[in-house]
Parts: sequence; structure tokens; C-alpha cells
Amino acid sequence: MTGSTKRSSNSQKTSNASQSDNRRGGLYGSIITGTGAALPKKILTNADLERMVDTSDEWITTRTGIRQRHIAAESETLSKYGVAAGRQALEAARLDPADVSLIICATVTPDRPIPATACTIQHQLGCTKAGAFDMAAGCSGFIYALAVADQFVRSGACEHVLVVGGELLSKYLDWEDRSTCIIFADGAGAVILSRRSGQGGLLSFKLHADGALSDFIHVPAGGTALPASAETVRNRMHYIRMKGNETFKLAVRSIENVSREVLEMSGLTASDINLMIPHQANRRIIDAVGSRLGIPPERVYVNLDRVGNTSAASIPIALDEAVSRDLIHRGDRLLLAAFGAGLTWAGAVIEW
Ligand code: ACO
Repeated sequence: MTGSTKRSSNSQKTSNASQSDNRRGGLYGSIITGTGAALPKKILTNADLERMVDTSDEWITTRTGIRQRHIAAESETLSKYGVAAGRQALEAARLDPADVSLIICATVTPDRPIPATACTIQHQLGCTKAGAFDMAAGCSGFIYALAVADQFVRSGACEHVLVVGGELLSKYLDWEDRSTCIIFADGAGAVILSRRSGQGGLLSFKLHADGALSDFIHVPAGGTALPASAETVRNRMHYIRMKGNETFKLAVRSIENVSREVLEMSGLTASDINLMIPHQANRRIIDAVGSRLGIPPERVYVNLDRVGNTSAASIPIALDEAVSRDLIHRGDRLLLAAFGAGLTWAGAVIEW
């Protein structure tokens, strides 16, 4: 699935840009008007993990780049963090909760299988005029949700959409499986996507999937294919399983390719990008992609050393951090790219 609005530097091409808008079938453009993020207080360090599984700080740091991660308390829910991040995004956008007409929560770790966590977030934020639903696209979930929100804004159906990317992956982790428990973490990020009045906004996106490789990252039991039972719990089938090395190789190639696609669709090159915000899965993936695209490390945002892999939350948390640190300015071009369970991978270019 694709969407693009070519950017340009002169008035003739600007008119082409709006033709491109029209080709996407929309009346309006969409732009991010507020961001927010929330992380659990509890920090789990690599030294803590050394006491839990057969691993070492040295292995985790050199193989992943992660030094610590935030882990939710047993009683906490994803919606708690989605609400906190969403409230910040509303405040940053200077909106009243009733101004939001849709809430999309990208997650693979909802509060419960039924109902959607987005509805809990809607209620707790007091977004009394909003529809709400969840979306599952693994670590690519935030870009998927942003692309869906863009359709609602672009068509004129919604003026403001709250997009939340959130996960409490710690609740799906087998704390005896050293290949997964050292990577994943908890948190939520959020943005408000609003109708654009001037230039800029979401310039392009591209969504990909390959369900043939669904077993690369999956939770075997707990769905309709294999409902939860005493036996599935006994066999630890309600925990996330990942073919890490196979995933790693595909992730580098796919993130590079989708990044090139969205840059081309926007009429930009890697040198036009002020900041790349990749999914924070593994430092080696991020470095390899940056180097293949020719984007220098100082223009690639990295926070996984402190935050770990928060799946659908990772890009909006990093985006909010970069905004808070005053690293993003009006007119800057951002490249977002992710890869995750599904398999899914996705990219987007934003002009701030
Ligand atoms: N500590 C010490 N040793 C370990 C650990 C650990 N925590 N984990 C694995 N090992 C061992 C393995 O057992 C193996 O040992 P062996 O050679 O004796 O068999 C060795 O280290 C190498 O294992 P690999 O799995 O090949 O290690 P790799 O370098 O690939 O790193 C990792 C593993 C970090 C998981 C990496 O593959 C990775 O980051 N993969 C991508 C993850 C990703 O991008 N996921 C997508 C998003 S997730 C989502 O959508 C929810």
C-alpha cells in the first residue's frame, strides 16, 4: 500500500505536489501537531538480566546496543501508558479531548483480547466524540497506523486523529528465553495527526507484508488457531518466539529498500533527510541501514540503549524525545522506517 505527495522547491512543482495530493484522492494533507510518550518507572539493566538468564552485559551491548529497558509493574496495563502519551500529545497540539474524532492504537500487546485498548484510551482521555480501534502490525504498527490516520484526515472525514503506538511486551516474554527477554521492553508514544493548513506533513508512506514468514516472530497460543489451555501454558506457548538471526538479515534489507521507496515517492534523496527515526530493534540493524543509505550516524536517532525494543511504540517514543530535545525544526524532513512481526515493514517521509 502506497501514498505519496512529491515535495518541490519552486511554484511550478508546488502545483504538481498538489496534483499528487489529488491523485491520492484526498481533499487535504495531514501533519503531526503534537507528540507524547510514557515509559514505566522501573528500569531493568543488563546487569539485572545477568542474574536472571545465562547472558552478559558485554553480549547484550555488543550484539544489540541495549543497556537498559523500562518494564511495567505487574498490575499496570498498556492503556495506562497509552493514556499518558495521548494526553501529552493532546496538550502539545493544544487540543481539547473532544476535538479528536478517531483514536488508533497500534499494538500487539493489548490490555485484553476484547475489547480494543483504543476504546479504554478513548474513555480515559474523555475523547467523547472519537471512534476507536486497535491495529496489529508488529514493530511496523506505528507507521501502519499513521498511514491509516492519514486516509481519514486526507479524505476530510476527520480533522484530528490520535495515533498511539504502545506495547507492554514484558508481559509476553519468557523470562527464561535469553534470545528474547534481553531485547523487548515496554512503553507508549503518541501523535496527533491533523488536517494540514499549509505546507509539509506526511509526504509519503509505503506498507509491506509477507505472511509466509509469520513464524519468524510469533506467539503460538492464545488465539483462535490454538486457544489458551493448561497445556499451552505448560508448554510456554503464550510467550513470544523469534528467529532472531533470520529476522535480523531480512530487517536490514527491507528497511533499506522501503526507505529508498518512500524517499523516491517524496522526490527526495537521503541527503535531504535531516533526521532518520528507525524502529529501535538492534543497534547493528540501525547502523547497517544508515550506512547503506548514506545517512551519517548524527542524523539517525537512537535511543534503544536506554529504552530497548518497544515494538510499535519505538518510533513515536523516539520522535517525542527528538522533539523534546529540540532536534526537529519546522521544514525538517524525517524518514521513518520499521520492520517486525507479520512479517511487516513500512516507511514514511514527513516534512515537519
Ligand atoms: N546472551 C548470550 N548469548 C546469547 C544470547 C544472550 N542473550 N542470545 C543468544 N545467544 C547465543 C545463541 O545461543 C547463539 O549461540 P551458539 O552460537 O552457541 O548457538 C549465539 O548467541 C548467536 O545467536 P544469534 O541468534 O545468531 O545472535 P544474533 O547475533 O543474531 O543476535 C538478536 C540475536 C539480538 C536477537 C538479533 O538477531 C536481532 O536483533 N534480531 C532482530 C530482531 C528484530 O529486529 N525483530 C523485529 C521486531 S520484533 C516485533 O515485531 C515484535
